[in-house]
Amino acid sequence: MRPEHAGQVLAIYQLGIDEGNATFETTAPSWEAFDAAKLDEHRLVALNEDSRVLGWAAVVPVSDRCAYAGVVEHSVYVHPAARGRGVGRALLTALLASTDAAGIWTVQSGIFPENTASLALHQRAGFRVIGTRERIGRHHGTWRDVVLVERRSPAIT
Ligand SMILES: CC(C)(COP(=O)(O)OP(=O)(O)OC[C@H]1O[C@@H](n2cnc3c(N)ncnc32)[C@H](O)[C@@H]1OP(=O)(O)O)[C@@H](O)C(=O)NCCC(=O)NCCS
Repeated sequence: MRPEHAGQVLAIYQLGIDEGNATFETTAPSWEAFDAAKLDEHRLVALNEDSRVLGWAAVVPVSDRCAYAGVVEHSVYVHPAARGRGVGRALLTALLASTDAAGIWTVQSGIFPENTASLALHQRAGFRVIGTRERIGRHHGTWRDVVLVERRSPAIT
């Protein structure tokens, strides 16, 4: 993911947000805020043959405590017109190869239970369900559950 992808990345983020089952966020951030939050080493885009962005994946650290230095939370978003043909799977596979190679030991995410596509994608990619956090946050005024999923790196024993 490079700065020239910023507009398309944020537009795909906003399309996912607008569907209502991807995240508690209601508006995509500015590129400056996105760029400052996401780790440089583990941010990816999937491009088509015309170099258009089909989707993206990125991570943020979960904590600044050193015990959690190898724990990150990821996001993966695919353009609605590019879904169901392996783009999300390819992004997640590449992201995990990148985090594994860097010694990151746990990648986690929170998924709304209604987001069946994301739950399927993550189960296929080797994530396990930790449990459901009930009514953990409010989204447009409604309390929502979040399924916490994580994947432990096989590269770290
Ligand atoms: C979740 C998302 C990233 C999946 O991307 P995608 O490119 O459509 O997924 P893929 O085509 O790579 O599918 C990956 C796996 O998930 C399964 N899957 C994908 N969409 C599915 C759906 N709607 N229902 C059931 N299973 C689904 C596929 O069958 C596939 O499994 P397989 O490899 O065994 O065939 C995409 O739907 C999206 O961007 N959603 C909006 C943003 C979002 O919710 N992000 C995740 C936030 S936690």
